[in-house]
Amino acid sequence: MSVSEYTPANVCEYIPGLENIPAARSSISYVDGQQGRLEYRGIAIEELAAKSTFLETAYLLIWNKLPTREELKKFETEIYSHRRIKYRIQDMMKCFPETGHPMDALQASAAALGLFYSRRALPNQDYIRQAVVRLLAKIPTMVAAFQLMRKGNEPVRPRDDLDYSANFLYMLGEKVPDKLAARIFDVCLILHADHTMNASTFSARVTASTLTDPYAVVASAVGTLAGPLHGGASEEVIEMLQKIGSVENVRPYVEQCLENDPKYKFMGFGHRVYKVKDPRAIVLQNLAKELFQQSHDDSDKYYDIAVELEKVIEEKVGHKGIYPNVDYYSGLVYRKLGIPADLFTPVFAIARVAGWLAHWREQLGENRIYRPTQIYTGQHQSSYVAIEQRS
Ligand code: ACO
Repeated sequence: MSVSEYTPANVCEYIPGLENIPAARSSISYVDGQQGRLEYRGIAIEELAAKSTFLETAYLLIWNKLPTREELKKFETEIYSHRRIKYRIQDMMKCFPETGHPMDALQASAAALGLFYSRRALPNQDYIRQAVVRLLAKIPTMVAAFQLMRKGNEPVRPRDDLDYSANFLYMLGEKVPDKLAARIFDVCLILHADHTMNASTFSARVTASTLTDPYAVVASAVGTLAGPLHGGASEEVIEMLQKIGSVENVRPYVEQCLENDPKYKFMGFGHRVYKVKDPRAIVLQNLAKELFQQSHDDSDKYYDIAVELEKVIEEKVGHKGIYPNVDYYSGLVYRKLGIPADLFTPVFAIARVAGWLAHWREQLGENRIYRPTQIYTGQHQSSYVAIEQRS
């Protein structure tokens, strides 16, 4: 028996997490982590947040151009008319345990779409267009439906007269949201729509590279997004703010965490790429401020706690490039919009479907199946030991 560390010829050094290793050539989005700049197809995220809508941004990401008025109208109309989900998918969702996490429900429901629409025809542009439309249209309906079903209620049917974001908030809360709430939610979707080669996008591209159907691509990406080191952090930020409870407790809380563990990771802080404050966190903080100024309630204190926490964490670990990421203020905005904490990541997924689909199309355009290598660290020539002789 021998143990070896075998590295195939021509293999570079092993980099955990593939940090800084390009996994694709892409023209979809661009991040400058030192300057805090994010662009979609070359356009700064701040400009899109101020001037665009989520569906226009999705079109830009997926089709690599800003649509004309007619193209946008057609795209919106197609999406609005595909928002309903089949009763069989609803029946399947009703069987999900109400205690299950909505991300698991979403992953299963997205995969189930493939049962109905999978007939793969990847070289066919009509098939691609239909898959894009169906996924963008139906994912929000599935998120809202699971939320109502787990409370024992029937899902609310989408309303054709409401735009993408207003309709989602309506299906979720069973009442038409005010204009500011719908616009703020739409901006949140724009901000989360794509972010270069993150874990869930990599997952989407790996799945896409096998030439499977786009529903499987989105389902695998949803599974990856669910983890607390990725999309799941916003939910944990709210738990942390609730645990802290008051502005006065912020400093003792941070000091206690770092005393127990000098490498303690505060949720909503740090990023593999950004070494300054995430530009999306800046826009989201402004949105949070706007929302909190508009209506005051008990949740106001959490915004103040968040601002103080940002200050103290910057003081303690800012020198390591640890600043708020996109998940830090998004939870506060969603909470104020009446979205429950365990739906924060599904809401992130609603937005990121646009990016995943853009990467799916791009991957198909220059496809080579992902097949990295490994460094084998196991044994060789071991003997099979009969079960009665094993200790
Ligand atoms: N709080 C305090 N310190 C941190 C944090 C944090 N959140 N994140 C990293 N650090 C410290 C590390 O302890 C390490 O310190 P050291 O140099 O003394 O060893 C240093 O910063 C570098 O940390 P890494 O773990 O190497 O950073 P990495 O790039 O691998 O991790 C990650 C990035 C996973 C996002 C990490 O910052 C983290 O776990 N953050 C909390 C979870 C979170 O908010 N996730 C959402 C990310 S955004 C998104 O996916 C949408």
